[in-house]
Amino acid sequence: MPRQILVTAALPYANGHIHLGHLVEYIQTDIWVRFQKLRGNRCIYICADDTHGTAIMIRARQEGRSEEALIADMQRHHTADFAGFDIEFDNYGSTNSPENRELCNEIWKRLRAADLVVERDVVQLYDVKAGTFLADRFVKGTCPVCNLPDQYGDSCDNGHTYSPAELKDPISTLSGTTPEVRRAPHLFIELEKLHSFLAEWIDADDHLQSEVANYLKGHFLHEPLKAWDVSRPAPYFGFEIPDAPGNYWYVWFDAPIGYMASLWEWCKRNSEKLEDWWPRQQLPLAAGEGRGEGEHDGREIHHFIGKDIQYFHCLFWPGMLKTAGYRLPTKVHIHGFLTVDGAKMSKTKGTFIRGATYLQHLNPSYLRYYYAAKLGSRLDDLDLNLDEFVSKVNSDLVGKVVNLASRTAKFVEATGLSNTYPADGGLFAAAAAEAEVIAAAYEDCDYNQAMRRIMALADKANVYVDEHAPWKLKKDAARAGEMQDVCTVALNLFRQLAVYLAPVLPRLAAQTGELLGRPIAHWDDAQAPLIGTPVAKFTHMLNRVEKDQVTAMIEESKEQAPATAPVVVPGSPDHVAVVPRSPDRGTPPTAGLPSSQNLETSGPEGGTVGRPSHNPADSHNQSADSGDALAAEPLAAQISIDDFAKVDLRVARVVAAEDVAEAKKLLKLTLSLGGDQQRTVFAGIKEAYKPEQLVGRLVVMVANLAPRQMKFGLSEGMVVATGPGGKEVYLLAADSGAVPGQRVH
Ligand code: MSP
Repeated sequence: MPRQILVTAALPYANGHIHLGHLVEYIQTDIWVRFQKLRGNRCIYICADDTHGTAIMIRARQEGRSEEALIADMQRHHTADFAGFDIEFDNYGSTNSPENRELCNEIWKRLRAADLVVERDVVQLYDVKAGTFLADRFVKGTCPVCNLPDQYGDSCDNGHTYSPAELKDPISTLSGTTPEVRRAPHLFIELEKLHSFLAEWIDADDHLQSEVANYLKGHFLHEPLKAWDVSRPAPYFGFEIPDAPGNYWYVWFDAPIGYMASLWEWCKRNSEKLEDWWPRQQLPLAAGEGRGEGEHDGREIHHFIGKDIQYFHCLFWPGMLKTAGYRLPTKVHIHGFLTVDGAKMSKTKGTFIRGATYLQHLNPSYLRYYYAAKLGSRLDDLDLNLDEFVSKVNSDLVGKVVNLASRTAKFVEATGLSNTYPADGGLFAAAAAEAEVIAAAYEDCDYNQAMRRIMALADKANVYVDEHAPWKLKKDAARAGEMQDVCTVALNLFRQLAVYLAPVLPRLAAQTGELLGRPIAHWDDAQAPLIGTPVAKFTHMLNRVEKDQVTAMIEESKEQAPATAPVVVPGSPDHVAVVPRSPDRGTPPTAGLPSSQNLETSGPEGGTVGRPSHNPADSHNQSADSGDALAAEPLAAQISIDDFAKVDLRVARVVAAEDVAEAKKLLKLTLSLGGDQQRTVFAGIKEAYKPEQLVGRLVVMVANLAPRQMKFGLSEGMVVATGPGGKEVYLLAADSGAVPGQRVH
């Protein structure tokens, strides 16, 4: 039966850039998809940005633009980064789509109908100044177990876990104030009702790697499953729950449904039916039914994810699918985490490397090959050893593979390949016979095995070329035929390698197709040699990698590191807080799972959404700009650089904003310059901004202005803004990455 395979990779958060850790997953998955396509299977690769949650809301507020503008901008970055690494999605969507809202509604109704939804009160920390509930990541305090100071709201650096309400001396990292403990009703899914189904499913049909199944059994399924908190009260950036107004689905509820929504977009574009790719199952759920009906009809669903999110994909998600009557995943493929030079990625060491930064210095094929050479089918972490990276790329890709073509192609440019395939001592046939073993390694995600076998074939081909030395034959006109035969063998052996490497190195496969006048289109292209075909002029295929390039990339990454840690760390939204894994907090343990108790207590984060964007990125096309503003206020007299240097402009964070009731125009702002340095500023922006829109934002202030005693108090500086006044005042914002206290030059 032909296979029809739907493949997904986890949806990256829309509030951070793609880094080399993410790329372990997107490259691993892309290789698998390309392999399936090359084998002639119908296969599509679906992904999307994960756009909802508190962190996006807070970051949008800090940047002074709408969440929609922020996520659109980030999606542009993500898709450019993925394309740069030759990662080819069939559809790249967004969880903030109408398709996703519709599917969430449908699945929610099924969960309600199955009587799995209950309401319970949740105790959370609430930041009165910022007007939001606080997710774990936005609270710091002293660990209630070991008294370690300056710890996050969910777990401490010594590995103790607790609820934020238990944290001693909690402080909101948004406003620097002490949060209040408040209660709010939340909606929960009673997972325990699915216990026997889940216990059976994780063991059936190789859905999971055995180490994952064992882990889930040992840590979760050995006791009653705790209910899962799936709602957050307003304000929250997400989808409002239709039958619970004022409450929103927690981002992890709508994120996996985003797989289906993005698939649906692809179906609509390609006149396909969603049901053909994500079939429906029979309802209602029969107790203890772990095997999905119809799972062996050739239609497969494969998820690729990192080990930190296995809990969501192996318990919640199958439970939701089963209850909603959808096909369950055929397999969840789980990989380990990236370390660089044996340590967690570090911004200060420059080893927290963005995809875009890598691409400025290095060829994407290097990383694709290096990761393939290191990836196995288990959950072990993968180490990017920078010296090994340089030597492996140079010795394998340049020294063994490309060298075969560069040493021989030029000698047959004029004649093309021999008309009959010459005797080669059985080399071609032996390599052709390896096809299924290599294919099995790809299928099992044992790419390191596949690469090892391919390089062993490359070694043999190089021995052949060394022994037959076509460059020597070239000198003797009488041996031209012999030289052509040797090159015919070498180029065919090279082409076989290019076929086997095509899932990893699509660029090399395309170049090989051009060189030998026959595109590589199928895995079986390695089975028959080319004969009598022309050979194009050899053009350069892949440079050696130089250590200097790697060093330059590290240096650039160091420059991207903030001078001091920002109060709110962008890059991982509220729900990540339950698993320490941001670069500054370390990679997760092998198991990498949060306790369900932590998931239940991790609270929502709120804040009023800022008004529509004032970000320069959203401004109109330059040619449409009128000259009115400049005409209204002509440029001032020229000054020297020294004059400018007298004005000390600093990035500051608004930690509090209050209405000055007696003043028509003024708001009282408390600005943080980092550490314990705070300034009070009375700003004439009342008609343009509500206080709650400002808390958490980065602004630019004149920090060395002489203080001025006003009727309402001492004003210790100015915030920088533009616009004619009244409602039309626009605060200047610093782009993300800037931190309070930094000077504006
Ligand atoms: N948004 C969620 C996934 C929702 S899927 C319905 C998320 N996003 S993420 O951006 O943090 O991570 C995306 C994927 O990249 C995850 O599978 C994660 O495990 C993986 N990785 C993120 N950092 C990684 C490393 N440092 N190393 C290896 N994989 C990493 O989780």
